[in-house]
Amino acid sequence: MAPTKTVLRALAGETLPTPPIWMMRQAGRYLPEYKATRAQAGDFLSLCYNPELAAEVTLQPIRRYGFDAAILFADILLLPQALGADLWFVTGEGPRLSTIQTQGDFDKLGPVGDIDATLSPIYETIRILRGELPADTTLIGFAGAPWTVATYMIAGRGTPDQGPAHALMQENTPLFEALLARITAGTIEYLAKQIEAGAEVIKIFDSWAGSLKGDAFHKYALEPAREITVALKARYPHIPIIGFPREAGDNYIGFAKATGVDCVALDNSVSADWAVQHVQVDGCVQGNLASRHMVTGGQALVDETRAIVKAFSGGPHIFNLGHGITPDADPDNVQRMIDAVRDK
Ligand code: CP3
Repeated sequence: MAPTKTVLRALAGETLPTPPIWMMRQAGRYLPEYKATRAQAGDFLSLCYNPELAAEVTLQPIRRYGFDAAILFADILLLPQALGADLWFVTGEGPRLSTIQTQGDFDKLGPVGDIDATLSPIYETIRILRGELPADTTLIGFAGAPWTVATYMIAGRGTPDQGPAHALMQENTPLFEALLARITAGTIEYLAKQIEAGAEVIKIFDSWAGSLKGDAFHKYALEPAREITVALKARYPHIPIIGFPREAGDNYIGFAKATGVDCVALDNSVSADWAVQHVQVDGCVQGNLASRHMVTGGQALVDETRAIVKAFSGGPHIFNLGHGITPDADPDNVQRMIDAVRDK
């Protein structure tokens, strides 16, 4: 049966008169209602693991703006926690995890079969959302790509250049590859459960793909994305998958064909005109307005939004930012962007 929701139609390869729109981190600290619910939950992780409140913050940007897609409220670092890593968030700084530097550290991780003991509240959030979302809103589930997740598990925190992960890759390749394999297997299991619970689309976030060059990109970004996609497609052939190898540059070319993903999400370091030529030729693309426009606003926001819509108008396109919206964004600028996309 042909899909009727606009996001699913674009993902099926249809060129629509108006691109569907949603926004990375659309449930976030730029919204006062998010901050209120987060305060009610106590802290970020308690919010992620509280199905009622996680569903509530997922719905907030849908109510306020009528986005065409909702993205499950959770985090890519919940999977490492479910695999046995310690995880906590330091306010104003970001995530902290127990580190993986040695075989002994790796051996302390648990088996993939145990992840649901931690992650079952996430599946419950999805079930609640499927009951509450408007009929034309698509629900997106997600996970981090193995490389990006590994960079946090190895270093125990975010790093500017992913140095510790690159070092382990060089110095103990078997351990690095064993970790990647464990994350890949866990990710397949986690995403399959999200689909069973009601996720209609899956997005794989490889935020640090840009720091992998040449053969390393092929082995550690492209290959795991292909493995996850093949495994999910074997079980759920009708579920579209969006790949986001952020800042991949020329490695965006051919990524959809090589991995089997239905759509490639673009960051704003590539121009829309370039991406039309090199990426959209293979199917649906998503992106790629610079998120700073949500802070700066003005005519530049409207002009740039319209230019992106126009550039991609000859093929399947889902409008989005090039990366997540930031806490200092003005909620009114989000409405201006939506109005510009929908030509109001
Ligand atoms: O897009 C969405 O709204 C869905 C939910 C979602 C979150 N994180 C919620 C979140 C998604 C899809 C993510 C993905 C994620 N998480 C990525 C990949 C995408 C990207 O941004 O590159 C990464 C690298 C993470 C890890 C992570 N989570 C970091 C580094 C941080 C701290 C930085 C920050 O923005 O504070 C988080 C926290 C986080 N994840 C917040 C949200 C809404 C902010 C937490 C808060 O409320 O204090």
